[in-house]
Amino acid sequence: MIFFSHMDQLPFHIQEPSFQLPNNLTVSILKNKNALPFHQGLAAYCPTPLISLGALAKAIGLGAIYIKDESYRFDLNAFKGLGASFAIGQLLEKKPEIEIFCTATDGNHGRAVAWAAKAAGKKSVVFVPADTSLNRIKAIEKEGATVVQLNKNYDDTCAHAERISKINQWELVQDTAWKGYEEIPADIMAGYLTHFKELEDSLHGVARPDVDLVFLQVGVGSWAASAAFYYLQRYGKESPLLITVEPDGSAGFFDSLKNGERVSPESSSHTIMGGLSCGIPSLSGWEMLKNAVTAAIRIPDEEAKRAMRQLYVPLGNDQRVISGESGAAGLAGLLTILQDPAYAGIKEQLQIGPQTRILLFNTEGNTDEESFEQIIS
Ligand SMILES: Cc1ncc(COP(=O)(O)O)c(C=O)c1O
Repeated sequence: MIFFSHMDQLPFHIQEPSFQLPNNLTVSILKNKNALPFHQGLAAYCPTPLISLGALAKAIGLGAIYIKDESYRFDLNAFKGLGASFAIGQLLEKKPEIEIFCTATDGNHGRAVAWAAKAAGKKSVVFVPADTSLNRIKAIEKEGATVVQLNKNYDDTCAHAERISKINQWELVQDTAWKGYEEIPADIMAGYLTHFKELEDSLHGVARPDVDLVFLQVGVGSWAASAAFYYLQRYGKESPLLITVEPDGSAGFFDSLKNGERVSPESSSHTIMGGLSCGIPSLSGWEMLKNAVTAAIRIPDEEAKRAMRQLYVPLGNDQRVISGESGAAGLAGLLTILQDPAYAGIKEQLQIGPQTRILLFNTEGNTDEESFEQIIS
């Protein structure tokens, strides 16, 4: 039985989703493009591991916890290369004359665009917002990009990248969609689908998935929306329940779901979960997620730190997972729901118990080593 929470201050919001795929360009692109063979053709390609955290599941009273570890993706330490490489590949098939790719990013996507552009023998210009850490900037520069830091927030940095790309005739490869800019973000989402396809052999029965709840961390929502597409297309109303996790300081999807329309985050403060520090949700991400998500939660930074430590110092025979702040957000969401009284009720409403099987994604490893060391030590 699902109830509805409408009390404004709650850090979670529960709804009964329609499980309907929207009828839009993004969905038709996701249905028609298969990025897996493209990725399999890349020299650096290798499916990332799926790790079972059996001891942790037992200790916190669950049936199973699986975590797909994207810290092994393409030596990039994050899943983002799946999207950028496929989108750039698609663009170059149509327009091989492109010389410079441009994007705005708070870290991982920019690094991925720089990496994919370099692999194709092209240049890249990456704009980053004011609060992007020096270590993340250096990681993007290492992939050959020209990085320009602006004294702006994420949304304004995206608008700047769009404007400058138009003026200079650079190709904008942005991982968030707005009206009139949907095709490239959809190609990026099609690229993300590869890691759900990698999971097919291990976690998906023919008629029903072998997991009950999937925790999805949200920045602009493109990645979570690609997961939502995967499950809705495959299982419809039999999909596992999808739960989104965002930082308190930047919860644009949470606020949008609560308001029933796409809005910028109501509060916007610094968060250590840099990859999730975004503005208004992606248009196509929002259209997909609002139909697919059963619960949206927002969590404090401290919970991400706790989850990073939990993954780094595992229980029993569980394998160590190296996780960055945004990477650990899925586990942080799970632990918060189970242990923090402010989230009381959600566990019962979602019927989480000793049989429940959970799927998490470690979407990044230690992408900022200095911050990682500080948190772990
Ligand atoms: C590590 C990490 N996890 C999750 C996300 C969320 O992806 P999206 O912005 O598509 O919601 C990002 C985005 O940059 C990220 O870097």
